[in-house]
Amino acid sequence: MQKVPYIWKNGKFLNWDDAKTHLITHTLHYSAGAFEGIRFYDTKKGPAIFRLKEHTKRLFYSAKALDMKMQYSQKEINEAIIKLIKKNKIKKGYIRPLVYYGEGRMGLSTKGFLPDTMIAAWGWGSYLGEHAVRVKISKYMRIHPASTVSDAKLCGHYTNSILASIDAYKNGYDEALLLDYKGHVAEGPGENIFMVKQKTIYTPSVGTILPGITRDAIMTLARDLGYKVVEKNIKPEELKRADEAFFTGTAAEVSPISSIDGKKLKLAEGGPVTMHLKEEFLKIVNGENKKYSKWLTVVQ
Ligand SMILES: Cc1ncc(COP(=O)(O)O)c(C=O)c1O
Repeated sequence: MQKVPYIWKNGKFLNWDDAKTHLITHTLHYSAGAFEGIRFYDTKKGPAIFRLKEHTKRLFYSAKALDMKMQYSQKEINEAIIKLIKKNKIKKGYIRPLVYYGEGRMGLSTKGFLPDTMIAAWGWGSYLGEHAVRVKISKYMRIHPASTVSDAKLCGHYTNSILASIDAYKNGYDEALLLDYKGHVAEGPGENIFMVKQKTIYTPSVGTILPGITRDAIMTLARDLGYKVVEKNIKPEELKRADEAFFTGTAAEVSPISSIDGKKLKLAEGGPVTMHLKEEFLKIVNGENKKYSKWLTVVQ
């Protein structure tokens, strides 16, 4: 990971090396925390943050799910993110806000606790690599919506994601795909999934997934480009018979899928619909499509 000069914590800019936390940090032990992953891109107008307001809104939704008392407003968090990018002089990369319970308290009742807030930003390239990914259907089920607030981005959910990732790479695959409790396709450990059949685009309905901000952008973009987009329950067998499939996510952007459980898709190396959407998405995030400039916050 590329070190940058500053990390923001509770309203102050700390030097990277001083931004430490105590071993008795509640969230380190019990994982009660909410976070975001946001990308910013090097555009002609300067660094531009993709869908900043939507990400901050989701951060507050996630923190609320844990009954955390936010110490800053959404506006203050957005301003802190912008200042952090400016101070660190980074042109493109990844932003990680995290709201967590810090040192000094233990126990599972968080009554009366006040969270700490930190924001880091660093340069981060391609997440799933440049090639279409080989996917394994995970032996782990996606977290059950009755056991947690499954559409919140909570630290604890990522144990499920990490277990699925381990299961995938230990078996020689690039990425995992988790099914929900009904056996339907849910999502990747850190990505939403789409499949394409005869030019129609399908994606799992909300309910057992994190409703991704990239997922929303891709559905909007695809419809604007004239594609039919359908949200529905998808069986794994149906996915294996798809013409194309791809992951979306802040880190993964638009990443083509080549195979599921070793079964190659018909258009395995990124079919025409996937590549069309990927190309148009990259134009948008890089500030080359005025129509979607509302999705970009330029850091000036
Ligand atoms: C489990 C999970 N699903 C989907 C996504 C994609 O969401 P987004 O496009 O908002 O990054 C992410 C990434 O945040 C994730 O962690």
